Amino acid sequence: MHSPLTGDFPNYRPRRLRGSDTLRRMVRQTRLHPDQLVLPLFVRTGRKIRDEVQSMPGVFQLSIDEAVREAASAQKAGVLAVILFGIPSKKDVRASGAYAKNGIVQKAIRQIKKDVPGLLVITDVCLCEYMSHGHCGLIKKCGKEQLVDNDSTLKLLAKTALSHAEAGADVIAPSDMMDGRVATIRRELDSNSFKEIPIMSYAAKFASAYYGPFRDAAESVPQFGDRKSYQMDSANAEEALREVALDIQEGADIVMVKPALAYLDILYRVKSEFGYPTAAYAVSGEYSMIQSAVKRGWIDEQALTMESLLAMRRAGADIIITYSAIKAANWLKN
Ligand code: PBG
Ligand code: ZN
Repeated sequence: MHSPLTGDFPNYRPRRLRGSDTLRRMVRQTRLHPDQLVLPLFVRTGRKIRDEVQSMPGVFQLSIDEAVREAASAQKAGVLAVILFGIPSKKDVRASGAYAKNGIVQKAIRQIKKDVPGLLVITDVCLCEYMSHGHCGLIKKCGKEQLVDNDSTLKLLAKTALSHAEAGADVIAPSDMMDGRVATIRRELDSNSFKEIPIMSYAAKFASAYYGPFRDAAESVPQFGDRKSYQMDSANAEEALREVALDIQEGADIVMVKPALAYLDILYRVKSEFGYPTAAYAVSGEYSMIQSAVKRGWIDEQALTMESLLAMRRAGADIIITYSAIKAANWLKN
């Protein structure tokens, strides 16, 4: 780790490694590989639908048949996993669509598992896409205030997770940030013979303006208030470590930090503190910022995307969820 900064080293050349690109390639300390990437998919009802999300060029709301095609091209590019988000045709105040046996995600899981064998299907477990008010949990009235009720929400999350497992999901990824959800979901899966299904927990998820375009894509903008009562304050690093510790105690198999680029310090600390399998979510806003500059010809998409993904790896991410997964995997091949 130490370089000689003083003394007599006549042959020492600071910083630059002599020799060829080949040698530089051999001693690269961080590597990016398609195996590490996860592609998010937004699934909706209908057939042959590929609706581009306005704020996310290249990202689509897909009907199940189209989602299968997208999943297949991810696999062809070398991507091993997708993460599914559902856009139901109806929303209500109990998020019934989230745990319906024939809900949009449940159907998509079955179809993708059938038509794209070998591809790992991760499911995002949250209620906001299915709630008429767009919050991640049940609302209770407290005088004039409407609050998200942590404890009653847990039952619905467990129900949702179980329905995904029953449909054939390989990994369950709760993203709601309610306290105690990992333990509750773990218990539900275990007592229904799904002991072997891993939980990838959105453990350190910050209340972030970077989620804006996602809420367009998933049609899940909160109708009142914000998510600050359950998502974390972006000022708090120690709290993030506590959240991660709790999720590990509750049985999380993989812990996630989200967003990625603006939270590389958190990623680094989570990986060094716990040494656990760690995921980073390069969120919608990160993607949209790059795309909008690309559209104007202001930056080089490939160079910037790869540099950003590499930075997440350097900071400690084993897995990266990114809307650029297919492109990145193809760039890595060539
Ligand atoms: C659902 C969820 C969100 C994201 C992933 N799961 C949105 C939110 O919390 O508002 C954000 C992903 C992105 O911005 O790409 N809770
Ligand atoms: Zn949510």
